[in-house]
Amino acid sequence: MKFSTGVKALDALLEGGIEFGVITHFFGSFGVGKSILAQQLSVTLLKETNLNNKVIFFDTEGSFNINKISKISTRFGLDPQHVLKNILYKRIWSFEEQEVFLKISEDYIKKYNVKLIVIDCLTTHLRSEFNQDVLALRQSNLETHLNRLLDISEKYDVASVITNQVVSGFVGENERSSEKPVGGNIIVKYSKYSIRLVRLKNRRYATLFGVDDLDTNFAPFIIADDGIRDEIVK
Ligand SMILES: Nc1ncnc2c1ncn2[C@@H]1O[C@H](COP(=O)(O)OP(=O)(O)OP(=O)(O)O)[C@@H](O)[C@H]1O
Ligand SMILES: [Mg+2]
Repeated sequence: MKFSTGVKALDALLEGGIEFGVITHFFGSFGVGKSILAQQLSVTLLKETNLNNKVIFFDTEGSFNINKISKISTRFGLDPQHVLKNILYKRIWSFEEQEVFLKISEDYIKKYNVKLIVIDCLTTHLRSEFNQDVLALRQSNLETHLNRLLDISEKYDVASVITNQVVSGFVGENERSSEKPVGGNIIVKYSKYSIRLVRLKNRRYATLFGVDDLDTNFAPFIIADDGIRDEIVK
């Protein structure tokens, strides 16, 4: 089972949209549109499933914007107040808090019809709290967290959407870009889909990470006042 992102090209890339019961990982550099997409998915989930379902939204950077959610809701024909009522929002101030509230979210899932968990952005606090000297500890914390998230997703058939920043590295022989997700392979391993969001000059597009075919592996999008939209074909 999947639900639409509200963007045709992105739905096509993901063969129908965001899948329940698995982790979907969007990564890309600052300002590419991760947080707006995360907020849009909170709206489309409600539109596509049941208006009385719930979304758990963990916000590590304070990017959640009521005005944005309202505009996106109106675009999809939903009452902004109703949408906001069904987003269980939590601002997250530390990695410890993130882990604790992910644990607690299981109680909410049992109590309410939670169908989507969003973590925007997964690695903010890990990155700032664990420096290069304690990389192994950082990775083991990350793995524990992802394990819990995947476990919850599978157990309750909840879609999990995580966003993530990038680090630059060297460009390998067969690689088109040096941009890699923070946390590297662990996050990719736990995510059924890893999608890189790219801004190239004035264009933006999404592309499946680790898949080569450039012709089909390309979903252009734009950012508008009311969220992420398909590129307008002129
Ligand atoms: N109405 C709009 N029209 C065009 N672009 C917009 C509009 N509103 C916001 N944007 C663009 O959206 C971007 C912000 O998107 P968003 O906050 O989702 O980025 P992000 O990927 O989450 O970044 P970060 O890594 O900093 O969290 C800005 O770069 C801005 O240019
Ligand atoms: Mg953001």
